[in-house]
Amino acid sequence: FAFTPENQKWAEAQMTKYPEGRQASAIIPLLWRAQEQEGWLTRPAIESIAEMLGMAYIRALEVATFYFMFQLQPVGSVAHIQICGTTSCMICGAEDLVGVCQEVIAPKAHQLSEDGKFSWEEVECLGACANAPMAQIGKDYYEDLTAERLREILKELAEGKVPVPGPQNGRYTSEPKMGLT
Ligand code: FES
Repeated sequence: FAFTPENQKWAEAQMTKYPEGRQASAIIPLLWRAQEQEGWLTRPAIESIAEMLGMAYIRALEVATFYFMFQLQPVGSVAHIQICGTTSCMICGAEDLVGVCQEVIAPKAHQLSEDGKFSWEEVECLGACANAPMAQIGKDYYEDLTAERLREILKELAEGKVPVPGPQNGRYTSEPKMGLT
C-alpha cells in the first residue's frame, strides 16, 4: 500500500498537527483517507499507516476494528448499506430493512452482491434514534425508512441516481406533516 502523492502530502500535514512523539494521534484521519483511496482498509494499508505513525500494527488494527466507519473487507462499488439494528430501529422495523438487503444484495452481511455493486451490514446505534428505523449509506443518513423505500433507494443507486438523504417520510418538507411545522 502507498498513499497517492497528494494523499501522502495530506497525511504528513496531519501528522505535524500533533506534538513530537504523539503522531499516533493522527491514526483516525489517516485510516479514513486510506479507506477513501482504496474503498476499504486493507491489511497492508493499516500496516503502512502504523509504520508511518510509529505505532504497533496491533494498535492501529484495534482502532480500525473499533469503529463501524472502517471497512476491513471489500464493499460494494456503488454503496455499502449500514442498517442500524439497535433498540429504537429494531422496534420500528430494522428487521424488515435487513430482509430487503438479504433479498436484494446478498444473504449474509459483508457479502458482495453478484454484480459487486452493493454490500450491507447491521450496525449499532448511529445516533438518529428519533428517526428510526434508519440506515447509513456512504456518508449519508436515510431515516424514517420502510422496506419499500429502501428497495426504491437501492434501485435508484443501481441506476446511478443519488437518492435524497434525510427523513424519507417528508417529516421536514415545507408541507407540515403530522402537525409539525
Ligand atoms: Fe437506530 Fe439509534 S437505535 S439510530
